[in-house]
Amino acid sequence: MLTCKDISKSFKKDFWSKNFVAIRDVSFSLEPGRIVGFLGANGAGKTTLIKIILGFIKPDTGSVEVLGIDWNDESIRKLIGYMPERPFYYQNLTGYEFLDYCGKLQGVSEEKIKENTKKWASKLEIEFALDRKIKGYSKGMLQRLGFVSALIHEPRLIILDEPLSGLDPIGRKEFKEVIRDVNAHGVGVFFSSHIVSDVQEVCDDVVVLENGEIIYNGSIQDLIEKNTDSIYNLTYRLEGQIHNIEIETNSKESRLKSILEKGGEVIKLEKNLSSLEEIVYRLNK
Ligand SMILES: Nc1ncnc2c1ncn2[C@@H]1O[C@H](COP(=O)(O)OP(=O)(O)OP(=O)(O)O)[C@@H](O)[C@H]1O
Ligand SMILES: [Mg+2]
Repeated sequence: MLTCKDISKSFKKDFWSKNFVAIRDVSFSLEPGRIVGFLGANGAGKTTLIKIILGFIKPDTGSVEVLGIDWNDESIRKLIGYMPERPFYYQNLTGYEFLDYCGKLQGVSEEKIKENTKKWASKLEIEFALDRKIKGYSKGMLQRLGFVSALIHEPRLIILDEPLSGLDPIGRKEFKEVIRDVNAHGVGVFFSSHIVSDVQEVCDDVVVLENGEIIYNGSIQDLIEKNTDSIYNLTYRLEGQIHNIEIETNSKESRLKSILEKGGEVIKLEKNLSSLEEIVYRLNK
């Protein structure tokens, strides 16, 4: 759904200092229709890369393709929904006026704007505030409005920069539900986050960026399994007593066999998986 090829971007911090490399030779490809988390520490380059993908800033080298369309082709704008990290919306518009404006910019019919506003604003619990001016919105309300605006034109891919930061727990849950809901209709999702547990909960795949370089791109499940020691937790009952032990993969079968031969009962056998959080922390070392 998204391919970045050899993207690099440097910034000049001031006249005297050397250029600062924010993105270094980044290449990756995301499979269609997936929910992909974009993890990286503060300053890793997530927002910069997202802005490059959207064509807001030009990289020094490289190219981007979205849904098989080259980024120079204006038609890709209609296929992408975007929610910025630090949104700035016209303060004097009401929520309704703002969404109507966003829809019209994308050439959406009046009827569709109404339909999509109703659908997403009610799911994101912001419908109640849509006839108020944006200047009176709280941070969480702005975020909810921003998410509706990213969906108003029925995009094929949504790119969200830190959509969950600053939301209360209920808001985070609602956003994750909408992400799943949109994705169930075949829409790809690419969203940045610091919260590893949210990424693990909702995403299929993950891209990890460190100091402007990709250090992992692939399925979360694979990342967890490859970085997990081959230890199993076994719970069994023998002579009326419950036992919990850890066993190595290579001794698993012989241990199970001996328990069964002694007339024991196996209650639970499960692989001891590391959490994504621990793994990402180790990758960064
Ligand atoms: N316009 C700019 N001029 C100079 N430096 C910039 C500019 N934009 C970004 N940078 C630098 O590029 C690096 C990456 O910034 P970026 O905003 O992409 O990080 P991020 O991963 O989104 O961080 P956060 O998690 O805090 O949002 C930072 O060191 C930042 O100072
Ligand atoms: Mg950022």
